Amino acid sequence: MTEPADLILHLGTSAATDALAERIAASLCAGDTILLSGGIGAGKTHLARAVIRALQRRAGEPPEDIPSPTFTLVQTYAAGPLEIWHADLYRLHDPQEIEELGLVAAFDTALCLVEWPDRLGPLEPGAAALHLHLALCPESPEARRLIARGPARLVTALSPPAA
Ligand SMILES: Nc1ncnc2c1ncn2[C@@H]1O[C@H](COP(=O)(O)OP(=O)(O)OP(=O)(O)O)[C@@H](O)[C@H]1O
Ligand SMILES: [Mg+2]
Repeated sequence: MTEPADLILHLGTSAATDALAERIAASLCAGDTILLSGGIGAGKTHLARAVIRALQRRAGEPPEDIPSPTFTLVQTYAAGPLEIWHADLYRLHDPQEIEELGLVAAFDTALCLVEWPDRLGPLEPGAAALHLHLALCPESPEARRLIARGPARLVTALSPPAA
């Protein structure tokens, strides 16, 4: 059965995804978790990177390289006092390893962006996390459909400003 979605957005271009990242960045703080699901190439890393860049820009940090954590599993960043964890759990299959990475502890103390969150199993933060699901759209190579579910504070922040 499909769970009810709080918000569905159409992102016509990668610039629209960047604008969404800017909007959500303004509302994020330590202890927030964003779980990014969707198939290979859906844009999870693109969105996570845009959120990290937006947070660093807001904090006055110089721009830095933000590689996909496909092989390192976790990359950490700072945006002023905010610690940011960007994880890609695609290659992990045992939730025990996730605890060893320190990710579970980071859920409480840092902003965490997690790709392939299904790998978390019982360690998934659940209702407290913002779930973002990205899917390709057939109309154009840059179009994506985003389904958001989570705390009202964060889902509301994703909505584009009224025209
Ligand atoms: N609207 C869009 N939103 C996000 N990414 C887009 C969009 N349009 C084009 N892209 C591009 O699609 C590609 C998505 O690749 P990305 O690495 O972000 O996917 P992924 O979901 O992280 O895949 P993986 O599961 O392999 O980690 C990037 O090159 C990105 O710039
Ligand atoms: Mg990725």
